Order: sequence, then C-alpha cells, then structure tokens
Amino acid sequence: MAKLSVLTGRANIPLAQSVASALSIDLGHRTLENFPDDELHIEIHDDLRDHDVYIIQPTGPPVGDYLLELLLLADACIRAGASRLTGVIPYLGYARQDRRALGREPMGARLVAELLCTRLHRIITLDLHNAAIEGFFSIPMEHLSAVPLLADSVRKLIPEDNMVVVAPDQGAVKHAQRYAGLLDLPLAYVHKVRLSGAEVAVQSVVGDVRGKYPIVIDDMVSTGGTIISAIEALIARGCQPTIAVAASHALLVGSAPDRLAALPIKNLFFTDSLPQPASSPLPLRVVSLGRLLADTIKRLHGDFGYRF
Ligand code: R5P
Repeated sequence: MAKLSVLTGRANIPLAQSVASALSIDLGHRTLENFPDDELHIEIHDDLRDHDVYIIQPTGPPVGDYLLELLLLADACIRAGASRLTGVIPYLGYARQDRRALGREPMGARLVAELLCTRLHRIITLDLHNAAIEGFFSIPMEHLSAVPLLADSVRKLIPEDNMVVVAPDQGAVKHAQRYAGLLDLPLAYVHKVRLSGAEVAVQSVVGDVRGKYPIVIDDMVSTGGTIISAIEALIARGCQPTIAVAASHALLVGSAPDRLAALPIKNLFFTDSLPQPASSPLPLRVVSLGRLLADTIKRLHGDFGYRF
C-alpha cells in the first residue's frame, strides 16, 4: 500500500502548512535554494520509493520561477522513486492565455499544460480562469471550486438584504451566476472592454443596481483594473457606496492594494490560493483552502490505498 507524502515549493508555504496540519502529517523534507547564477538547486531528503506524493505549488508571480520550481521538484520526486505524483496547483498561471486573441501569440495555457503533463500524473486545481483548459491536459484533473466557501463567508459577514451580485465583465458572468444562485440574489453585469494588460473601459451596466449593495465577483483580481472600473461604473449608476468584492485568486500586483483601498470597499473576500500579506491597507477576509485541499488529497490517496 502506497504511503502519503506532501511536499511544497516556495510559492505558498503557509497554505502547504495548513494542508499538512489538516492531514496531521509533516511536510516532506527538501532543500530548495538558488545557486549564485540563479539556477535552482533542489534535493529531496525523504525516501519516496513507492510513495503517493503531492506537491503544493500555485504558479503565481514570479510565474516562470514557480512553474520551473514545480517541474524540477516533480522531477526530483520521480527520481526519488515516487509512484504517483500529483501537482496541487490552486492557482494556475498562464490560464488566461487560453486562446490567440490578437494573432501571432503563443497559447500559453496549452504550453504550460503540456509541460506539467511531462512530470505529473494528476493535478488538483481550483477555479480555473476557463474550465475548458482542462482539455489541454492529458492527465486527470480535480477541478475544485472555492465559490461555496466564499459565498458562505459573504452570507455570514454581509447582513444587508438589498444586495445584487455583479459580474465586472462578460467572462465573469458564469462565475457570478453561481454566487447569485447560492446567495439567492439578482445578477447585474458590467460590459467591459480591455484596452491593454492594465487598462479597461466600461461601456454599460446591465441590470438593476440603483440603491443596492453590490457584491462584485471575479475569478481573480490582478492589477485591480477590472474591479475598479466596475465599481466606478456602479457608483455612477447610483448603487450604495458599501461595496463587497469576492474572488478566488488575489494576485493584487503592483499598486493594486492602494488603488483598491481608495474605493468604498468594505469587504474583500479571497482565498489563500496565493500567499496573502500579513498586513494590508485592504479589508481582506481570507478564506483558507487548507481543509478543502487536505480533504481532496485524502480522498485521492484513499482511492490509491490510504496509509500515513
Ligand atoms: C479576466 O478575464 C479575468 O477574469 C479578470 O477579470 C482579470 O484578469 C482581472 O485582472 P485585473 O485585475 O488586472 O483587471
């Protein structure tokens, strides 16, 4: 019967610790450091022969570094004898590059999928930007969602009864519909046009938002541009200036925290799929994925022959 091992890269050590503690095991021992020329040096210190191994590593910024770290860790585990190797990637970088939008561009999501399939036997991930990306992988994938956890948190913390769920762009409508269903609330939608990687413009707001408390939903917040322009449009159309935001992945790159802090946002609900700062100018409500990931690992390991 295979033994369970859980290792982590450097992308989100607090999350890996909470998964290990929910499983009542220690994280696997490894050395992970950079050589003077920045190449990675990895060494596994545990005997992994015939083990069922899980590597926890979201591929957020620096995306390329953490992706390569995951691939090298996976390679080391295979060479250390792991019999099954699962990548636990709660945030998958490059997922937004799932099509060629302009012409002569790479298919980033497809290439990343192919690279991961060279070393992993299975992937656990969460709220992919586009669920169809699963088709790029030739290995089994457990595609989890944090929507029920986040909706639960929203329900507990926001007492107003005159609320509306808002999708800040067309791509977020399906995601927002799930929240609207779970919270039993109406849905509105912002028609956004992307001008560049960091700039967006709002064309119109569809749905009744006047006088209501909006909960703006997205799968991720990166520069904050999408959320900020949606909130500005909602305020211009007369919504209540007590705004909540919920998203599975908080990248919050560059000046995003300060730009968001300048808006009347009372609650920001995120998961810890990516590491969150100990202090922030934002009213963050971070929902941990530790238990959800641990339960998923337990179930998958159980299928394989469960033994600690
Ligand atoms: C786009 O399609 C995504 O769902 C998010 O709306 C977007 O990536 C968020 O990025 P930013 O915060 O930079 O606008």
